[in-house]
Amino acid sequence: MSTLITLEGLDGSGKSTICESLQNILPEVTFTREPTDSWYGDLVTESMYNDDADSLAELFLFTADHAAHLSRVIRPSLASGTTVISDRYADSRFAYQAAALDNSRIDAPLEYIQSIHEPFSRRPDATIYLDIDPETAVTRAGATNKFERVQYLERVATQYEQLIAAEPTRFYRVDATQSIVDVKEDVNTILRTILDDETSTQFDEW
Ligand code: TYD
Repeated sequence: MSTLITLEGLDGSGKSTICESLQNILPEVTFTREPTDSWYGDLVTESMYNDDADSLAELFLFTADHAAHLSRVIRPSLASGTTVISDRYADSRFAYQAAALDNSRIDAPLEYIQSIHEPFSRRPDATIYLDIDPETAVTRAGATNKFERVQYLERVATQYEQLIAAEPTRFYRVDATQSIVDVKEDVNTILRTILDDETSTQFDEW
């Protein structure tokens, strides 16, 4: 059976560096990311750098990209028996867009966003959360887009904590304020555990 592993965390948590180095040691794994590098992903990126973008419309752009990602990359890879590691996935929407839609006409943004994923998405078997405080995240990321500002990232971090509290066995927390060498070592240890337990993985649909 193949496994879907996702990496999550605030901007500047080092996810992309970790994914790059994992690609070198795990050549048999499909590495992918959200937003994707398809034309759906290009639309998302255009919205991301637009300060006037409508937050609800943006949620649907990110979700459309996720739908295409599932049908074109994730499900075919898993069906062929390949393990998939995705740099960001649905939890990014649950955290970032729930924070963006706070105080909007949507009453309970997190529940709403989860409900629109529920009919078609696939729950990750394991999620590695690179844990970093918003101040350090902003210093490292350099705030290149509107999602990377400190007050916003504080709200995003609160949403991630809610997700972790709801599913403590899916999430593996790594202290991302450590040196990159130590972060890599922690991630490798976690991956070894997950991939060894592959056969007992549950494949519940969301
Ligand atoms: P990117 O430059 O790819 O950053 P990173 O390398 O940190 O992933 O930009 C992704 C940005 O989009 C990041 O700020 C998080 C945000 N994002 C959302 O708001 N919702 C989502 O569903 C996803 C996948 C990303």
